[in-house]
Amino acid sequence: MVSAGSENPTFVATDTFKYMPKGVVKEGKEDLKLNYPALLRTESYINGKWVKAKSGKTQKVINKATLQEIAQVPAQNKDDTEAAIDAAHDAFQGWAKRTPKERHDLLYKLYHKINEHADDLAHIIVAENGKALQDAAGEVEYSNSFVEWFAEEAVRAYGKTVPAPDPKVRNVVIKQPIGVAGLLAPWNFPLAMITRKLCPALAAGCTGVVKAPCEAPLSALALAQLIDEVGFPKGVVNILVSERGQDEQEMGKTLCESPKIRAVSFTGSTRVGKILAQQSASTLKKLSLELGGNAPFIVFDDADLDLAVSNLVQCKFRCTGETCISANRIYIADAIYDEFSKKLAEQVGQFKVGNGMDKGVTMGPLNNEAGKKKIEEHVKKVKDAGGKIVLGGNAGEGLFFEPTIAQAPDAKQLPTDEEETFGPLAVLYRFKDEADVIKRANDVSVGLGGYFFSQDVGRCFRVGEALEVGMVGINTGMISQYIIPFGGVKESGFGREGGPTGIDEFLEEKTLVFSGL
Ligand code: SIN
Repeated sequence: MVSAGSENPTFVATDTFKYMPKGVVKEGKEDLKLNYPALLRTESYINGKWVKAKSGKTQKVINKATLQEIAQVPAQNKDDTEAAIDAAHDAFQGWAKRTPKERHDLLYKLYHKINEHADDLAHIIVAENGKALQDAAGEVEYSNSFVEWFAEEAVRAYGKTVPAPDPKVRNVVIKQPIGVAGLLAPWNFPLAMITRKLCPALAAGCTGVVKAPCEAPLSALALAQLIDEVGFPKGVVNILVSERGQDEQEMGKTLCESPKIRAVSFTGSTRVGKILAQQSASTLKKLSLELGGNAPFIVFDDADLDLAVSNLVQCKFRCTGETCISANRIYIADAIYDEFSKKLAEQVGQFKVGNGMDKGVTMGPLNNEAGKKKIEEHVKKVKDAGGKIVLGGNAGEGLFFEPTIAQAPDAKQLPTDEEETFGPLAVLYRFKDEADVIKRANDVSVGLGGYFFSQDVGRCFRVGEALEVGMVGINTGMISQYIIPFGGVKESGFGREGGPTGIDEFLEEKTLVFSGL
């Protein structure tokens, strides 16, 4: 609640989120009702068959809003991973020899299947991830945009000719699939991050072993069901399910060290990305790493303020703030700071927090305990450093946390700056001039997304070029699209997903030199 009309607004942190759910923590099992119940698969998918873990181990998948069990799935290990790698390896030659048009047609059929079941897929995402239904529906659409785009790209893996200095020579460069791809997907977009990796691999003629996210494997298994129905040959797509811990780490290591795997694509933390890079060194795999971000979001005093506020709300709180490109350090020009804070608190104060399935809910719970604990720690660190919580700031029951706005103390970097919060906490800093804010924005080890708002064309070019990130939103906080190269610089990793170059992560150039002509 914002006290309207005040020069120096004060905010009430309690009772703001009157819809904050109470008594939602339940025991027992929940029946996830789907229009097409076949999508709720509880076995993993290897070599065209639904299988249990070789060890017989299982794990629970929990609804993140109610904490009820929604399914039991396999908890697989190294042995299952090796079986999946063998299946993908055996299937590779056959799949690579299919014409690009055949690969296009199957991917296109999958696109239609996903459209047909979009509603059920969104409900599965809400249950296992926690995000609100509108975010989950957006994720299904986003996921399928990669399926459609890479169906179209399958037939466009053009090579080139390179003019030779010798008149008797002709050089032709062709593109060929790299081989089996190991694809490690995160829980924050349990469907979209898989289609963004798997579809370019399939379009290129590669086969894939997907390690579904531990906390949210059901979307991946539902996708496997549709892949099976569409008629992809056995072994072309294999989906493993892991449980957090030692076995999961060994599964990742097996994928990275196997000589049968030629490319590894991972989305997740910089810490894990570095481990995977080390493990992949022994077989020199082609790597694509989309790692953590810590996005600066800068609002200059010449910006359209309302546009900047509404875009920050979307950028920061989309999917409960659990995105790698979420605004993490928000820099507001001194002259507009108070007005910006007030407008932001007014909009964020309207959030309805609750079970993502419920009508009208705009923000769901976090995905896991560790994530919730991190936000609690960040809120405490901000307060300890002299920052002021102006909205929210409280943990709720289960995995809920209030959308929170904090004001950083003047001209001070906070201990939370080096590490992305990955949750619904927006920390606002003041800045005085362009050079200072660019320096502060770039003063971190990572660089995935970055945003700024300004109506000065010269500044748009200057700042856009100066920010050390892989993607810059200029007068927008929403940059994600299937059609752009998505990826980072510095310790946010390398490689690009989606867009015109996404398929290249799974292709190799081969040069044919014709001589004696
Ligand atoms: C991510 O959080 O890693 C992906 C976000 C997006 O593609 O929008």
